[in-house]
Amino acid sequence: MAETATLYFLFLSLATPLLLLAILLLGSWNKKRLRLPPSPPSLPVIGHLHLLTKPLHRALSSITAAHGPVVLLRFGFRRVLHVVDPAAAEECLTTHDVVFANRPRFPSTRYLSNGFTTLGSSNYGANWCNLRRIATVEVLSTHSLLRSAAVRAAEVRDTARRLFVDAHGASESRPARADVKVLAFELALNVVARMIAGKRYYGGAESEEAARFREMVHEYFAMHGVSNLQDFLPVLGMVDIGGAKRRAVRLSAKRNQWAQRLIDEHRIAGPNDDGRRSRGRTMVGDLLDMQASDPDVYSDEVIRALCLSILQAGTETSSSAIEWVMAEMLNHPAAMAKARVELDDVIGTGRLMEEADLPKLPYLQCILRETLRLHPTAPLLAPHESSADCTVAGYDIPAGTMLLINVHTMHRDAGMWEEPTRFMPERFEGGKGEGQWMLPFSMGRRRCPGEALSMKVVGLTLGTLVQCFEWGRVSEEEIDMAEGSGLTMHMAIPLEASYWPREEMASVLRAL
Ligand code: HEM
Repeated sequence: MAETATLYFLFLSLATPLLLLAILLLGSWNKKRLRLPPSPPSLPVIGHLHLLTKPLHRALSSITAAHGPVVLLRFGFRRVLHVVDPAAAEECLTTHDVVFANRPRFPSTRYLSNGFTTLGSSNYGANWCNLRRIATVEVLSTHSLLRSAAVRAAEVRDTARRLFVDAHGASESRPARADVKVLAFELALNVVARMIAGKRYYGGAESEEAARFREMVHEYFAMHGVSNLQDFLPVLGMVDIGGAKRRAVRLSAKRNQWAQRLIDEHRIAGPNDDGRRSRGRTMVGDLLDMQASDPDVYSDEVIRALCLSILQAGTETSSSAIEWVMAEMLNHPAAMAKARVELDDVIGTGRLMEEADLPKLPYLQCILRETLRLHPTAPLLAPHESSADCTVAGYDIPAGTMLLINVHTMHRDAGMWEEPTRFMPERFEGGKGEGQWMLPFSMGRRRCPGEALSMKVVGLTLGTLVQCFEWGRVSEEEIDMAEGSGLTMHMAIPLEASYWPREEMASVLRAL
């Protein structure tokens, strides 16, 4: 017996170092065989986290300048592929579209994404395919958007009416002042909430429900902007620093209750005699009608996930774009004047601009494109994650790598764009710039499904504001175009502007 134990320990003491040596050799052999992208020197445990200043897309851009357009980084334990080469970006989003169709599962977003079940957070699979099909085919399709045009028109008209009322007695010498950030955010939220559920939460009669909703949205965006180190250093997630997890759980419950209440209210209201629900056509109403014939596909859970996905993805993006485009207009009065001439030529001053006018306003479209080139609201798109090994730009990329595509840097590449940092809508005029590489809405399976909606909201808002009001800066100085941090790029300094109603539009504005 004693002999067997001795032999056993002898075997272990010889085998363990040999086994470790074999693992090490195999690891380094594997590493040698892998052709990984270049990578700056990293620190133990944190990897390259110390290089990441705010805003993230600019810090990553500087790393690229020193190490090349395809770089492999380490954010704590996560391997990150950062790409600023259009060909490599396309390779990821076309050739390897399915491989990169997953999302990284950040602990900080677990609760607010209902355990990664919303459209934007779900991995590629049955749940995502179902949500994505409903979003693109039923909710955000050309046909659905045509049906909801009246909602957007009413909201933009109401914004113009409120601005007009607030500017009572204002003139060039005594302009009124507008908080463009707040105005754009409330407008974008009202549009989305009315499309989802037929409700307005801002600018209407004060109700307890509206106040509760606003508090929920406010809390969400306050938490959303916070950078979360525990996403990269899991050890930090073992303690609930500042009670963030507790707050996320509570907020997630509130958001689900909100979405479920919408469903229940629609269910109680039931369809009208003509087959439509009493509050008019809404996304929740339409999906409940479909639930009647296919309860598994259109379950309450799916409807809740869609409400939250669209509320989340469709508000801050559009409102930031409105803010950026107005800031560019204020810094470039000649471009604003040119847009107004176009509006007056095409529409005149006897009626308000409508969504149907947008295709007839090519210069306005150029302004929108130029704004999205310089200020893509998602500068790194949304992070993707690979589900299998693949090669990008000839480099080996192991499965489980997070992908950040820096469209902000590529949209300002001097090799692709003349005077890349200059705001010049004319670069797109007369079909110029067609085929120029731009990707503000991404491409492939995960491409933004709300592009058409957002272009309508932003275009109609910009057109109406320029048509109805004269705008100026609140001081002599140029607007500071500094960028805030976060995955959605907003202006670091919230935009304010001075304005007064246009004389020629007074009768139209009075009739609103
Ligand atoms: C200017 C406005 C907008 C911009 C620039 C924008 C851009 C983007 C980008 C870059 C992505 C990530 C794509 C990727 O992962 O590769 C995205 C995803 C998404 N967007 Fe938008 N977006 C805008 C407005 C909207 C609106 C108005 C909605 C809906 C009402 C919307 C709904 C979504 C959803 C649901 C996703 C997630 C898609 C998925 O993961 O499958 N977006 N958007």
